[in-house]
Amino acid sequence: MATRVAVVTGGNRGIGLEICRQLASSGVLVVLTARDEEKGSRAVEELQGSALPDVIFHQLDVADRSSIARLAEFIKTKFGKLDILVNNAAIGGTTIDPERLKELQMQNPEEDVRTFVDGYLGSLQQSYELAKECLDINFNGTKDVTECLIPLLLLSKSGRVVNITSQTAQLKFMSNEGVIKVLSDIDSLSEEKLDEVTCAFLADFKDGNLAARGWLPVASAYAASKALVNAHSRLLARRHPSLAVCCVTPGFVRTSMNYGMGLVSAAEGARPPVALALRDEPGDSGLNFELFDECEF
Ligand SMILES: NC(=O)c1ccc[n+]([C@@H]2O[C@H](COP(=O)([O-])OP(=O)(O)OC[C@H]3O[C@@H](n4cnc5c(N)ncnc54)[C@H](OP(=O)(O)O)[C@@H]3O)[C@@H](O)[C@H]2O)c1
Repeated sequence: MATRVAVVTGGNRGIGLEICRQLASSGVLVVLTARDEEKGSRAVEELQGSALPDVIFHQLDVADRSSIARLAEFIKTKFGKLDILVNNAAIGGTTIDPERLKELQMQNPEEDVRTFVDGYLGSLQQSYELAKECLDINFNGTKDVTECLIPLLLLSKSGRVVNITSQTAQLKFMSNEGVIKVLSDIDSLSEEKLDEVTCAFLADFKDGNLAARGWLPVASAYAASKALVNAHSRLLARRHPSLAVCCVTPGFVRTSMNYGMGLVSAAEGARPPVALALRDEPGDSGLNFELFDECEF
């Protein structure tokens, strides 16, 4: 098979960097992207220095449409097509009190995982500004990058989009029946409806109505943004039957997003998305995976 070309967003650190490393180790030519040129170039040097020459850097801020257009033009000119897009870039949209973080860092998450994760999520603080940024980057940014690169993915023999999602985005954790209906009714889903859900979420946040309206009360913007990514993936899978568009949860991974907390390393967390990116089976488009297993949206 001719060399496949992959774009990975947010490739300068965490799970994204490990996805780049593992894809390049599997013979894929990787375009490692990052919003910060210096951080991205340093990450590429690190990979090239560990005998992975087929990794190149291109700047990409997923929240900046001109940056997205420049990346698309670069891929078109250099490769004429794109085989794999891994939408990894995201922010948590929360802050944490440093004293509370110290307490959490003293605990052993593996002693009682559920209690630890609930304690951790319950400690996260939110603000309207961060919530808005979180939706802009995680949902609108991912959507804009994907839509801009779709024409190039359609030129591949087996174009694949892998969206990194979260367990917190699963609709079973939400109780807003209206939103659940919109996000799960794939037949009538549209970009306009996803934008309406975004606006409704932000209005509820502003009015202090998150819990009353059945949004996840912790890490609310993050969960909502990833639920929107999930729904958009299903919409694209339907619209483009020749592409494979999937979502995958990497687990609870020790990265900056989690303030260094989690149960597995970034390398471990990269394995499920990489397996999905390299998969070559028809019929998995429009699906959601938790680690390596299919799960409900
Ligand atoms: N860690 C977990 O337990 C976990 C669980 C479920 C899902 N995930 C998902 O896994 C993915 C990777 O997260 P991570 O844990 O590796 O977090 P991370 O270490 O914080 O990495 C996030 C990456 O996204 C980049 N990014 C943020 N905003 C961006 C923008 N506007 N344009 C381009 N890049 C941007 C960051 O770049 P900068 O360095 O410039 O900030 C960084 O490279 C995310 O989609 C996350 O939601 C993580």
